[in-house]
Amino acid sequence: MNSINLCEMYRHRINKKLLKMIRKLPFQNSVLLESIKYSIVSGGKRIRPCLIYVFGTMFKVNIITLDSISLAVECIHLYSLIHDDLPCMDNDDFRRGKLTCHKRYGEDVSLIAGDAFQSLSFNILSSRSMPGVSYYKRLKMISELSNSIGFSGMCMGQVLDLRAGKSTNKLEKINLYKTAFLIRSSVRLAYLSSKYFSKTTLSTLDRFSIAIGLAFQIQDDIIDFKSDVKKFKKSNSRIYTYPFKFGLDQSYEKIKKLYQEAFFALRDLKKKFNISTLEILIKFIINTI
Ligand code: IPE
Ligand code: IPE
Ligand code: MG
Ligand code: MG
Repeated sequence: MNSINLCEMYRHRINKKLLKMIRKLPFQNSVLLESIKYSIVSGGKRIRPCLIYVFGTMFKVNIITLDSISLAVECIHLYSLIHDDLPCMDNDDFRRGKLTCHKRYGEDVSLIAGDAFQSLSFNILSSRSMPGVSYYKRLKMISELSNSIGFSGMCMGQVLDLRAGKSTNKLEKINLYKTAFLIRSSVRLAYLSSKYFSKTTLSTLDRFSIAIGLAFQIQDDIIDFKSDVKKFKKSNSRIYTYPFKFGLDQSYEKIKKLYQEAFFALRDLKKKFNISTLEILIKFIINTI
C-alpha cells in the first residue's frame, strides 16, 4: 500500500467514527451540535489519528481501542483549533478554506463547542470500548492526555505564543508545548494501550514524535508565512514564528534536521518492531505538511 492510500483509509475510518459518535448525542437540532458537526466535516488531515492507527497496529492493539484513542485525541485537536481561531486568540476568519467556527456560529457558541469537544474526549477515554485495556491503563491514558494539553502542555504553549517574547529558545518551547506534546501524547497513548512496555522504547517514541511535532509546526508556519507575508498580519503571535524570525531557508534546514532525528529514532525502533507501515506514513507526513 502506498502512503496516500494508507492515510486515506485511516482518514476515512476516523471521519466515519466521528460522525457516528456525534449522531448519537442528544439535541441533534441544536446550534451546539450544528457547530460541532461543522467543525468535523470542514476537513482536516487527521494526522494524529493516522499516527495512532499506525503505531497501534505496530504494537498489535485492537482496532476498536485505536478508534477510541483516535476519537479522543481528534476531539482535543478540534477543540484546540476552534479556540485558537477566536478573536481573543489568533482572530482568524478562515480555517481549511472555510469560515471559522465563530464566524459561522458566533464566539459564544464556539467557545462552548470547544469545551464540549474537550469533555467529550475524556468521556470517550473513560467509557468507550477498549478491548484489551484495563481500567488502570485507561487512568494512565487519561493522565497522559490531560497533562499534555494542560498547564504543562498545550495551554501553556498557547499562552507563551500569545505573549511571545523575542528569544529563539522561547520559540522552540512554544512549538514544543502548543503542538509537539499532543503529537507525543497520540503516540504514547497508542503505546500505553498495548501489552508492551519498556522505558527505552517509550523514550525512542518520544524522540520520534517530538521531532515530528516540531517539524509539523514549522511546516504549518511556513504555509502561513507564504500566504501572509505581504498581507496585514492580524495576529501578533504570527510574527514570532520560525519563518518570520529566521526566513524560509533556515526553516527548511531546521525541518530537515528534525526529520533526520525522527529517522534515527525509527532506526532504533526497527530493532524490535516491523516499521514498514510507519515508514510509509512518515513519507506522507513529510510530503503533505
Ligand atoms: C494545525 O494542525 C495546527 C497545528 C497544530 C500546526 P493540523 O495541520 O493537524 O490541522 P488539520 O486538522 O489537518 O486542519
Ligand atoms: C495552533 O497553532 C496550535 C494549537 C491549536 C494548539 P497555530 O495558531 O500556529 O496554528 P494555525 O496556523 O492556526 O493552524
Ligand atoms: Mg495560535
Ligand atoms: Mg492559529
